[in-house]
Amino acid sequence: MSIILSLETSCDESAAALVSDEKGKVSLIGNEIASQIDEHANWGGVVPEIASRRHLENLPFLIEEVFAKSKLQIQDIDAVAATVTPGLAGSLLVGSITARTLANLHQIPFLGIHHLEGHLSSIYLSENHPKPPFLVLLVSGGHTELIKVDIQHKYQRLGRSHDDAAGEAFDKVARLLGLPYPGGPAIQKTAKSGDPKKFFFPKGRVSKPEGGFYPYDFSFSGLKTAVSRQIEKIRSENKKIPIEDIAASFENVVAEVLVERSLQCALDQGLNSLVLVGGVAANVRLREMMLAKASENAIDIALAPMEFCTDNAAMIGAAALLRFSSKSQSSMELGVSARWPLEKSDLLYECNPPF
Ligand code: KG4
Ligand code: ZN
Repeated sequence: MSIILSLETSCDESAAALVSDEKGKVSLIGNEIASQIDEHANWGGVVPEIASRRHLENLPFLIEEVFAKSKLQIQDIDAVAATVTPGLAGSLLVGSITARTLANLHQIPFLGIHHLEGHLSSIYLSENHPKPPFLVLLVSGGHTELIKVDIQHKYQRLGRSHDDAAGEAFDKVARLLGLPYPGGPAIQKTAKSGDPKKFFFPKGRVSKPEGGFYPYDFSFSGLKTAVSRQIEKIRSENKKIPIEDIAASFENVVAEVLVERSLQCALDQGLNSLVLVGGVAANVRLREMMLAKASENAIDIALAPMEFCTDNAAMIGAAALLRFSSKSQSSMELGVSARWPLEKSDLLYECNPPF
């Protein structure tokens, strides 16, 4: 059995977890998180400089806490992992340097983890998870991607957003409606009492230069503009803005577009298993619509557990365990990178690291 300490500091959550691979299954020993969301909410979004300072302050306490609560000591662990890409470089550095320092001091392996592989691995924190091949819909604040996983750790991106990520669209539309950051949970709450069919908003399509559309790609910036125009129109008529109906209609069209294109992609690829992960996967309307529509098409759905949809260190630990069990470890020379394709995540375990 291996025990791994994992750290996540790529954006606005500082997190530490302890995981083990008991009987070939990922088992969560401890999970601590310190959210900076309230502080960033004052600015309407994440301020990178503040984020790295808070990670630096939070991380030692989170690590102490996760060991204390699980009654383990650093001598009990077999490896240390941290998110190294993609994310805010200054924030990633805090987690990565902390992990490498601990690994060096205690002479144990270090694993640098791709944040998206972390999100993907959140499904291993649930009892029932599928085995590859499957299709993943990864929807977060920075990414909206359809990824085919043929075998473990082999990724092929089949779809993506050409502008805003789905989570980013939630955050921007929330701002237009005067709702707080992060927009996803705020829109979900407001939408509960709204009519999802009240307003018609477009399902953005991305044109191919040769004509037609990319079938599995997304565009959310036009949708945001449509919401903004609708608000302006109602305002110019001196009427009260029906924020509940706008929130519900927006949330509904985002869910429809994500569900329709993912299921089409799965059907075209002959995949009967689809995995939903990332911060936006916490959206109840999206989860319910995905389950309902998938069952009509005989596609099995694996939903990331609700508590592991938004950023956390448990999912980074799950990804690290899977890498560690296939004998991978990273060079101590591995740095951090704001961007790196998931398809090239194997290179994080090369002797000569790519960054
Ligand atoms: O995965 P995550 O924590 O961070 C990134 O890696 O980006 O995702 C954060 C995003 C934010 O844009 C937030 O508004 C969105 O996930 N989000 C939601 C919900 N909860 C979080 N979007 C829709 N519905 C939710 N319930
Ligand atoms: Zn994330």
